[in-house]
Amino acid sequence: MSTELELRRLTTPQELFQAAADEIIRAATEAVRQRNRFTIALSGGSTPKGLYTLIAANAAGLPWEKIFFFFGDERHVPPDNPESNFRMANESLLSKVPVPGSNVFRIPAELADAALAADAYEKTLRDFFSLKPGECPRFDVILLGLGPDGHTASLFPETAALREKSRLVVANWVEKMKTWRITLTFPVLNAARLAAFLVSGTDKAAILHEVLEGKGSDEEYPCRMVKPTDGRLIWFVDRAAASELAAAA
Ligand code: 6PG
Repeated sequence: MSTELELRRLTTPQELFQAAADEIIRAATEAVRQRNRFTIALSGGSTPKGLYTLIAANAAGLPWEKIFFFFGDERHVPPDNPESNFRMANESLLSKVPVPGSNVFRIPAELADAALAADAYEKTLRDFFSLKPGECPRFDVILLGLGPDGHTASLFPETAALREKSRLVVANWVEKMKTWRITLTFPVLNAARLAAFLVSGTDKAAILHEVLEGKGSDEEYPCRMVKPTDGRLIWFVDRAAASELAAAA
């Protein structure tokens, strides 16, 4: 069953972060009730910082010992590097809430060989989710961003990772940035119970219009390839990012 896209139009970035936080807390409460744990893959970049800060400020009462944090992707840098997605999430959220350190699974992107980092993280996922060969981890929530070229996680247009169908985590060479990234693959993104995009700001208006209302192939806009096979897909967008979309239906 493929799932229709839910477009949540919010006005300000803060309202977007609040709507996303509410959805995450709802999902966490349900996951803990049903499965006694909540697994979330965090997105990087700059947009989610406001969400992570909001969650950290409203942390009371969440069952942190039952919440497990992973990462959708990572730059090929050590965790203390300003470019590190882990560093951003740690500074804005993880260091500010009483989540046990053993509940946070960082991509070991400090390894010189990005492929070894990807292999290590794939093993981490297989072990944590007790996966049999060929099985995919089913995250409760995977947070995602939208890049100006339509990429999400580190799944960039015209890169090898777009065609990965069996690995869970790969090192992905991004020619235009002359850098390696480590990223979850589409099979993992599309196994999620909830995939949630956060898109904020006028600099995303053009690409959001192209992605949601334009033509072009899915490979041209990798974010379009996120279609949970048995889960929900929500795009949280603020007014600035949605300013080139057709008027709300
Ligand atoms: C990363 C992210 C990437 C990001 C988009 C949007 O490692 O940079 O995973 O996919 O979500 O590039 O980034 P901004 O939120 O900074 O616009």
